[in-house]
Amino acid sequence: MSAESTSLEGRLARDRERIDAWLERLFTQRQPASPRLEAAMRHGVLGGGKRLRPVLVYATGHALGADDTLLDAPAAAVELIHAYSLVHDDLPAMDDDDLRRGQPTVHKAFDEATAILAGDALQTLAFEVLAALDHPRLAALIRTLAAASGRDGMAAGQALDLDAVGGHPDAESLATMHHHKTGALIRAAVGLGARVALPEDDARLGALDRYAQAIGLAFQIQDDILDVTGDAATLGKASGADAARDKPTYPALLGLDGARAKAAALLDDALTALEPLGEAGAPLAQLARYMIERDH
Ligand code: IPE
Ligand code: IPE
Ligand code: MG
Ligand code: MG
Ligand code: MG
Repeated sequence: MSAESTSLEGRLARDRERIDAWLERLFTQRQPASPRLEAAMRHGVLGGGKRLRPVLVYATGHALGADDTLLDAPAAAVELIHAYSLVHDDLPAMDDDDLRRGQPTVHKAFDEATAILAGDALQTLAFEVLAALDHPRLAALIRTLAAASGRDGMAAGQALDLDAVGGHPDAESLATMHHHKTGALIRAAVGLGARVALPEDDARLGALDRYAQAIGLAFQIQDDILDVTGDAATLGKASGADAARDKPTYPALLGLDGARAKAAALLDDALTALEPLGEAGAPLAQLARYMIERDH
């Protein structure tokens, strides 16, 4: 194993342990109003997942000199939004999936109504957690997460995804859909880590945003590729699900080799965008590579 991958492994392990402990604490030492809702929320957010969005918050913040104590809440908030998006994504009305992170999906382990409510409550918990952060630019942080989650971000992307089922969108429409449904939250993760450390007029925000846009799209392209090439045991979720549901994907549009080439080109864009950060950007470069080389 190279020194580079050793330090990436170390970073992933450290950040995952930190965010898991942080998320776990949201569910302990309290008397839940609805134990069933609470259990469903726990099921949706704890016990699995790569935690890539929190890792990106930490890596971006650290690259700019920010301290963990200012990054924990944004990291948790973006993972809570992501978990909510997965709970709803798996519902019968959306992708109708039974397996997530190697476990039954929330509507399978509980029921559909509880899964809808658990998603709702995970979303509002994200903003409750973020709003409690003591930071001079808190409003900008909240706006960043809200815009990425809603009608101009993930929710819009999910709507475009549902509209596109059975259709044949062109490359531009597919990119728009992927940028919204997945890219927006990845962009928010980088944007939150950056905004914790930098004021709005710092030029590095733009460079990091270009990086985030490239890896956000590349990440969903790799997700589409793994749906074709992966197996459920490794992925922790069904494979072949996109083709079975006639979902428009990059492999469907460009073939597997074309999709891989597109992801590789986006990785180059991401690495170019990081150049103004110099050596400080090295961990973000490693993460970009990991995001398109991962096998789950
Ligand atoms: C899956 O995201 C859904 C997409 C947006 C592609 P991840 O691959 O990050 O899922 P977890 O969090 O590791 O389970
Ligand atoms: C999900 O995309 C994007 C979300 C906003 C959750 P997918 O539907 O491809 O994600 P998986 O493959 O179910 O994880
Ligand atoms: Mg989906
Ligand atoms: Mg899905
Ligand atoms: Mg997928």
